[in-house]
Amino acid sequence: MTVERLWLIVPAAGQGRRMGADRPKQYLSIGEKPVLARTLSRLHQAYPQASLRLCLDEDDAWFDPCWVPFGDWQRVAGGVERVDSVLQALDDLAPEAAENDLVLVHDVARPCVHPDDLQHLLETLVDEPVGGLLAVPVADTMKRADEAGRVTVTESRDGLWHALTPQGFRYGVLREALHGALDKGIRVTDEASAIEAQGLAPRLIAGRRDNLKITHPEDLLLATHILAAQAEAMTGAVVDEAE
Ligand code: C5P
Repeated sequence: MTVERLWLIVPAAGQGRRMGADRPKQYLSIGEKPVLARTLSRLHQAYPQASLRLCLDEDDAWFDPCWVPFGDWQRVAGGVERVDSVLQALDDLAPEAAENDLVLVHDVARPCVHPDDLQHLLETLVDEPVGGLLAVPVADTMKRADEAGRVTVTESRDGLWHALTPQGFRYGVLREALHGALDKGIRVTDEASAIEAQGLAPRLIAGRRDNLKITHPEDLLLATHILAAQAEAMTGAVVDEAE
């Protein structure tokens, strides 16, 4: 299989309430730039040829188009849940996208995704019929809790992975899978679970552990340090990417 055209969908219509901030987390600053600008910049570095659909809340008062480095991009209205936002973007692509076009979906809250991982993901997915996702094997011992916050059982971590993004699938398969999941009332929090519900097995593509999803207040500082360390490793010099 080949990639005729590469589509990027970035769901960025969430409120990020777990951050407890005065604005959605994608607009919190890391150094001089908001999370959203950093995430789009990483994606553009790896996929300058891609066409972007950016899902934003219709009442979003924070967004500035100068943060979008892509030449070919459009804003799409977000939905109630993440899956609704992604589906809005997929529906918006219908007149232009071919069934076999590759679509990569990446959370706006993951600004630390490494260009090497993005490159590796795309190279792998070009010849992958089902599609797949960046992921990392679980390293910690896993506990299941009861409602009182006590351990009911220790789960085996054998074969367990954290699902990251980007996740990439062929346009037609992904759209059908997400619509199918919604129609059946299946609650999907990522694209892969909708594909799995179709009886298909997405490929796990091992990525870096520092592809953090900014979710809680302490994650912002972590992301700042990760970006600075990555910038230093990439340039060979001590560069503060947070500047
Ligand atoms: O809240 P959480 O981090 O799980 O959201 C994952 C991604 O989905 C974020 O990039 C967020 O902006 C996006 N999202 C969205 N539309 C929603 C809810 C979340 O685009 N209704």
